[in-house]
Amino acid sequence: MHTPSASAASDPRSSSSAWLTSWWKSAAIYQLYVRSFADGDGDGIGDLAGARAHLPYLAALGIDAIWFNPWYPSPMADAGYDISDYRSIDPVFGTLADADALIAEAHAHGIKIIIDVVPNHSSDRHPWFAAALAAGPGSAERSRFWFRPGRGVAGELPPNNWQSIFGGSAWTRVTEADGSPGEWYLHLFAPEQPDFNWGSTDVRRDFEDVLRFWFSRGVDGIRIDSAALNCKDPGLPDVSGSEPPGPAHPFMDRDEVHEIYQSWRAVADSYGGDEHGGRMLIGEVWLPDSSRLARYVGPGELHSVFNFPYLNCPWDAASLRQVIDSTMGLGAPATWVLSNHDADRVVSRYGRSDTAFDLDRRPYFHGFPVDLALGTRRARAAALLTMALPGAVYIYQGEELGLWEVQDIPDELRQDPIWARTLGADPGRDGSRVPLPWSGTEPPFGFSPAGAESDPWLPQPKEWRDLTVAAESANPDSMLRLYRAALRIRRSEPAFGETPLTWQPSADGVLAFDRHDAGGVEDREAGVTVRCIANLSAGPVGLPPHAGVLLASGPVHGGVLPPDTSVWLRIG
Ligand code: GLC
Repeated sequence: MHTPSASAASDPRSSSSAWLTSWWKSAAIYQLYVRSFADGDGDGIGDLAGARAHLPYLAALGIDAIWFNPWYPSPMADAGYDISDYRSIDPVFGTLADADALIAEAHAHGIKIIIDVVPNHSSDRHPWFAAALAAGPGSAERSRFWFRPGRGVAGELPPNNWQSIFGGSAWTRVTEADGSPGEWYLHLFAPEQPDFNWGSTDVRRDFEDVLRFWFSRGVDGIRIDSAALNCKDPGLPDVSGSEPPGPAHPFMDRDEVHEIYQSWRAVADSYGGDEHGGRMLIGEVWLPDSSRLARYVGPGELHSVFNFPYLNCPWDAASLRQVIDSTMGLGAPATWVLSNHDADRVVSRYGRSDTAFDLDRRPYFHGFPVDLALGTRRARAAALLTMALPGAVYIYQGEELGLWEVQDIPDELRQDPIWARTLGADPGRDGSRVPLPWSGTEPPFGFSPAGAESDPWLPQPKEWRDLTVAAESANPDSMLRLYRAALRIRRSEPAFGETPLTWQPSADGVLAFDRHDAGGVEDREAGVTVRCIANLSAGPVGLPPHAGVLLASGPVHGGVLPPDTSVWLRIG
């Protein structure tokens, strides 16, 4: 095994043509939630200057790409997922010149850039929405959105019974230019996020142009927000609640959505031949039926989709094996996701007595006490399990530090619209978005520069003094040191290339599989096998004969793997 350097020039992967064209198939992708990563200017909100300053940290972590959550101009009604200009940067984050510099600097580190594009909805401050309000009923401007008269004698009732995913009705009534109560517009999320009408050719053309705008600036990939929701049944019928997502559903996973992504794929492919290599599209698609999910990654469509069944899966060997097998059967390179900015952090999830997760049942999960030591041990084991699987791995910022879900944010500081729209019934997602701790012994833990005038936009727990990047860098047993070692081995070990997984016999509650490199590729060592064993059972298990321990998530002594521990063994 050689030790790869963080520099792109000496990393054989970044310079090989196979890596350039299909980097996304096996990349380690860091999700950078820009508001909470690092604050360069002291306003308590993360920004591009902060991200640029910490690129060396990310290069040394060993990631291949960064996915940025939305960085566009936005009134921030939904933390940037309400975009008022798709071709610029919000002043709170920086400028377009900062983004250009960031893309260039990341590339110099051998790191690719993926950005978020939100096609289902925009912002009520988007110029097209302002034009639609001004132009009035029946106008071409309104046809880019979903405006309809209300029901009831005086149009006082919403046009149908659809509910917003954030709570409340999915319709808001506007006041017309003459001051009279007017039409209603559709928003599947907050009222500040009007849904686009994808039947409009203006909308289709404009988004293809947005993709070209960013690809031409060197962006390597696009994460497509709420990708299954764009198309609506134009009759806007009521939902009965019993239609599964698919052609019979008025707005979830309708078949027309695939035409959009086929045209986006053609745009992405038209850039594949330049110096940056292949451009990729990854969809945020939450669908229970894997055959419907598979359609998004069919020929000529998206390169990959996020693996949410893996994120939602309980810490249980049989359930995880089922999800892994069904992921491998999807017919596209796999992605593995343990956490993101919408879900509870993995340490907290695995520290509860119900270790599953479901976005729609957050209040239920928050009812359980969290055993942080247990959750951390399991999260460490899960990290090695995840990084040993074939495919791309997504790491949500702070996962590498073992941060937990902050469940005790004071109500008056909560920002997520889910909290307000459910009248506090759902705590929302703020707890996974708390600014990162970098250094020092008290907040803001180096998140903002010394002497910053504003506090971080969400309060950091004081206990995070032990989880700062500085503290963890100095601690050989930290989560950060584990992630660094795992990513280094994952990148350099031939068995972790584009090789399949072979399950091995194992006791109940234990997952064991091999990755085998047959050798003969470029200058790689021949015939290497790495076995990953994850012990999710309640008791210790014996290790098989092996030639060496590459990495373990906890202490492994006397040939025994303790509960909630994973190991990577070199076999033969
Ligand atoms: C996606 C995003 C989420 C956002 C929503 C509406 O699910 O991940 O953060 O609130 O879309 O844009």
